[in-house]
Amino acid sequence: MFSLWFFGVTLAFGVGLCEAKSSSPPALLYHYEYSRIQETDQAWKCWQEGYRPSKVTSSKVHETGNGTTADIERLLRFDQSTAVLFLFTSSSDNGNLRTDFTIQSNRLVRLSLDNVGLERLQLTFAGRENDCRLADLSVPRNRLTEVPAGIERLTSLRKLDFSYNHLKQFDLDRLANAVGLKQLLLGHNRLESFVTPARINLDSLHTLDLSNNRLRTLDSTHWSMPKLETFHVDHNRHLATIGGWSKGRFPLVKGFDPAGTNNWNQTWLKSVQ
Ligand SMILES: *[C@@H]1O[C@H](CO)[C@@H](O)[C@H](O)[C@H]1NC(C)=O
Ligand SMILES: *[C@@H]1O[C@H](CO)[C@@H](O)[C@H](O)[C@H]1NC(C)=O
Repeated sequence: MFSLWFFGVTLAFGVGLCEAKSSSPPALLYHYEYSRIQETDQAWKCWQEGYRPSKVTSSKVHETGNGTTADIERLLRFDQSTAVLFLFTSSSDNGNLRTDFTIQSNRLVRLSLDNVGLERLQLTFAGRENDCRLADLSVPRNRLTEVPAGIERLTSLRKLDFSYNHLKQFDLDRLANAVGLKQLLLGHNRLESFVTPARINLDSLHTLDLSNNRLRTLDSTHWSMPKLETFHVDHNRHLATIGGWSKGRFPLVKGFDPAGTNNWNQTWLKSVQ
């Protein structure tokens, strides 16, 4: 009887039994796609608008595949001493992937780590010098709870994207040295308050996304952002007013949807539209 029963089960679940026999469970595979540019000419110092790596001294790698955690970790440990660009993205559910990354200063011009299970991001500086190369730091769709120490030393930033992370706090004054910043993307985090204690001049900033957070307090009193045009604050369902806001101070912003996804104080809203 037993052997017959066993035989039947084997037939029906043959594949499953085969898998169960191996000592460790099959490793999870994560989809990845990345581009990387290594530039052997490192004589130049700071990044400038219009920079393109020379075809003679640089080489580009583009790869796509499915890798284990160890594979992904290895890809993230590329040689930063000559790297100027690294753009990585994944389309997998990375809930079980836990990675960290340390940026070496004055190397990369563009770094994008999109959906790589990033839980910790760090910056290292060789000496007292600030970083004047990193123009694009994009780390969307990860699980970062903190903005890395040293971010105030990134002076060439044009784009900073921390959207879809777990940030509870973001102090805008830490970007006071990033005077050329154009885009600051902080949507889909857990920010409860966004208050800037001292005056900050971000004269080039045209896009600020604070949507899909938990904002109750938002104060623009100390912002100088004459070029601000795209300002997203929707889906902050406790947000009733924006301190210091007026149409005159932010002439390019179109206004707010009275019936939107916030809890606008309608009296306040009418006074600023
Ligand atoms: C990665 O796996 C997916 C299915 O999970 C498959 O469609 C795709 O072709 C694979 N990609 C590569 C480069 O192997
Ligand atoms: C709504 O805004 C107006 C004008 O800013 C203010 O006087 C009033 O107290 C606010 N109402 C509430 C319920 O906070």
